[in-house]
Amino acid sequence: MSTFNVAMIGYAFMGKAHSNAYRQVRAFFSPRLEPRMKVVCGRNREGAESAARTYGWEEAATDWREVVTRPDIDLIDICTPGDSHAEIAIAAAQAGKAVFCEKPLANTIEEAESMLAAVEKHGVPHMICHNYRRVPAVAFAKSLIDSGRIGDIRHYRGTYLQDWIVDPAFPLVWRLRKEHAGSGALGDIASHSIDLARYLVGEITSVAGLLETFIAERPLPDDPSMRGDVTVDDAALSLVRFENGAIGSIEGSRMAPGRRNFNRFEINGSNGSIAFDLERMNELEVFFRDDADTVQGFRTINITQPDHPYTGHWWPPGHIIGYEHSFTHTVFDLLEAIADGRNPSPDFHDGVRNQRILAAIEDAAARKQWVEILD
Ligand SMILES: NC(=O)c1ccc[n+]([C@@H]2O[C@H](COP(=O)([O-])OP(=O)(O)OC[C@H]3O[C@@H](n4cnc5c(N)ncnc54)[C@H](O)[C@@H]3O)[C@@H](O)[C@H]2O)c1
Repeated sequence: MSTFNVAMIGYAFMGKAHSNAYRQVRAFFSPRLEPRMKVVCGRNREGAESAARTYGWEEAATDWREVVTRPDIDLIDICTPGDSHAEIAIAAAQAGKAVFCEKPLANTIEEAESMLAAVEKHGVPHMICHNYRRVPAVAFAKSLIDSGRIGDIRHYRGTYLQDWIVDPAFPLVWRLRKEHAGSGALGDIASHSIDLARYLVGEITSVAGLLETFIAERPLPDDPSMRGDVTVDDAALSLVRFENGAIGSIEGSRMAPGRRNFNRFEINGSNGSIAFDLERMNELEVFFRDDADTVQGFRTINITQPDHPYTGHWWPPGHIIGYEHSFTHTVFDLLEAIADGRNPSPDFHDGVRNQRILAAIEDAAARKQWVEILD
């Protein structure tokens, strides 16, 4: 096993999830490249040191520019808000490092394209973290679709609903400001539904869009007596057409009381249907028209068999896994691709395409017209 030295920028929500993945992957998956948790970087010395101690990084740093040029680092893992992805990724590529970047790839198409240009110019491996592709039930759904089990796909219905900003007193955090996040529910969570649509169904060619911001002002995080403008969408809806003739809908909202992390899709094909809900992530609902008439009906498969994707590395059948495992699987596939000399998937090409779809939905919503996705 050779060692692969990782530096991670940003150490909060995603930083914690990625750190856990680097710790778990070695014990459960035996990747050929062993990730060494070399340095974690944040803006605040005390916070970075505490993250290093808590999550198991060897060193803490406060200047990502220094970190990305260190000769002993092989991979830069970007877990910061979208406004810093492009600058960090481009500097990392220039320094010859592999780049693993959180979604959405950037805040604008131009930034995303410049990131793709940089990794291609410098010939470094690149991956975007759409971790839901690596939920075993989702990967199994993909294998059912690819084997033709549900026939020609006609419908994709992707809904990603949360409720953490329903309270008008919830503060104006970075995710509610366009200059930091790029967009709201659209880029934050509908981007995952778009990625799953592209992964499971095929390329999206045109979109209609509708965006809404229900609460226009919120208290400032550092001074709740003051208020500031919400500059992103609270909810986003889109109708989509796929290259292969399928049609679909994508909905993202952080204003759906009771829906905590309801990342769901249903796919209907000419021979059957598949449905998935992240809140019941070890299960996949399937309906097959070629089942005998008398026993036809939706059934629920527990996706924990040793021959289901990824699950044989964990526990015996029925011993379920959780959210964090999707990141471990993603990191495993990233390391194996690099060990093979292949680029991992999804990569920055997927990130750029996703960004074009996000922008097209915004454009369609503003113009109240269908918009084609340009190559
Ligand atoms: N894959 C997923 O399912 C998923 C889930 C949540 C978030 N995300 C994405 O992950 C990224 C980070 O989101 P999060 O939820 O972890 O946010 P967060 O607010 O929890 O953490 C952001 C971190 O970045 C640090 N940071 C911000 N600017 C920085 C800078 N210039 N230099 C160094 N550190 C900086 C902050 O100090 C913090 O540690 C975003 O792109 C987000 O869209 C992905």
